[in-house]
Amino acid sequence: VGGRIRPVSLSELATHNTLNDAWLAIRGRVYNITHYLPYHPGGPEELMRGAGIDATQIFDKVHPWVNYDSLLAKCLVGPLRFELPDSE
Ligand code: HEM
Repeated sequence: VGGRIRPVSLSELATHNTLNDAWLAIRGRVYNITHYLPYHPGGPEELMRGAGIDATQIFDKVHPWVNYDSLLAKCLVGPLRFELPDSE
């Protein structure tokens, strides 16, 4: 039973970029990958390349066939919220 699903901005995503607190976005969904890091077949340091950012392109370059959404279903934080520039 996880917390609530809620939108995440790019700037909030960027703050979750450490081994103890790592989030990553793929195709508009933000996942908390902290607990998956030790299980990543490519190793934690490879997965950390995508921590705190939209990792869609890195992910697709390495293994577009991997079903990340089912592997990380329980790690979903919420949709990535895109911000408009210069909005006040
Ligand atoms: C394998 C990198 C994100 C799941 C690998 C391998 C690399 C890699 C280099 C190959 C390991 C090897 O064959 O020795 C990355 C990078 C990522 C990323 C740079 C993002 C920055 C993810 C995510 C998931 C994932 C989000 C799913 C939760 C897997 C799986 C394999 C794998 C299942 C084995 C794939 C296979 O053998 O067909 N990864 N990964 N990875 N990764 Fe990732």
